[in-house]
Amino acid sequence: MEHVFIIMPCIRSLGDRDGAAWATPSRLGQSEGMTLLKDRIAVVTGAGRGIGFGIAKAFCRAGARVVIGELVEEQGQKAAGQLEAEGYDAEFVPLDVTVSKSCAGLVEKVMARRGRIDVLVNNAGIARLHKSEEMPEADWRLQIDVMLTGVFLCTQAVARVMIERRRGSVVNIASIGGMGGWPMRSAYNAAKAGVIALTEVLAAEWAQHNIRLNCVSSGVTRTEMVASAIAKGHASADQYTNRIPLGRLAEVREIADAALFLASDRASYVTGQNLRVDGGWVPYGNLHATGFPEDELDG
Ligand SMILES: NC(=O)c1ccc[n+]([C@@H]2O[C@H](COP(=O)([O-])OP(=O)(O)OC[C@H]3O[C@@H](n4cnc5c(N)ncnc54)[C@H](O)[C@@H]3O)[C@@H](O)[C@H]2O)c1
Repeated sequence: MEHVFIIMPCIRSLGDRDGAAWATPSRLGQSEGMTLLKDRIAVVTGAGRGIGFGIAKAFCRAGARVVIGELVEEQGQKAAGQLEAEGYDAEFVPLDVTVSKSCAGLVEKVMARRGRIDVLVNNAGIARLHKSEEMPEADWRLQIDVMLTGVFLCTQAVARVMIERRRGSVVNIASIGGMGGWPMRSAYNAAKAGVIALTEVLAAEWAQHNIRLNCVSSGVTRTEMVASAIAKGHASADQYTNRIPLGRLAEVREIADAALFLASDRASYVTGQNLRVDGGWVPYGNLHATGFPEDELDG
């Protein structure tokens, strides 16, 4: 009889794992996930929509008080309003990550109101795809400015207050683009590769201050940025899904869950890491891209 009592619950839990319910956000949220960032003050840049908004929401669900730093005022107000309407503690602070005064201004406002910053997520991003020989200098500079210099400026401003408290966690949203050569994306990929390197340098430099820095290298995710790339004919939805071993684009919440883990104390010994959340994109051997069916390549 003793064996029956031990085995039955195991079978039931395996059944749960097989079902889709296992991975739903509510399932995660109802458990300890709701307290992973309890009362932490978290700043998320570019959180007016897309992945940034998804991260802001996941952090709110995990108990954080969230500051939405966003360039587009209307988007930032709307995002904060939506979270507040759901009963969460969220506020919008205007931010242009490319301007050091703006980053410093956000830190000043948050410190005046909240007294500390526990978590920073550098998420703001922009994509301007061109053939490299035709890349306008302004678009090159804008992408490097927002996604590399902007990450540095924001992190520097926030780290100054984290260093004083000897505590902090920074999550940078990089990309699988930072780990490979994609045509048309010279500035975008260079910026993201730079962010991965920057994360490693700062993690090594500020470990002595008890500040952890990590990247989430997001795979192709269902947001307006990707919808716009598809609409402009840079790639089709099928081309993306055919290239992804899991056979689908990422959902925003799947990127947000990875950011939540890295931001939380669950990752207390993780720093300088680049966590790919890409459905298997980077490790994939890419046989289909050769144009040969796999069975013709066998042997
Ligand atoms: N969507 C994807 O497939 C994908 C894949 C890999 C990485 N990423 C990265 O994830 C992040 C979010 O992407 P997304 O798809 O949600 O994009 P998105 O365009 O939907 O959102 C980007 C947000 O950043 C804001 N922003 C732009 N410039 C800013 C600035 N100077 N200061 C402050 N905010 C600014 C925008 O207003 C917008 O709200 C980006 O860094 C992007 O490069 C996205």
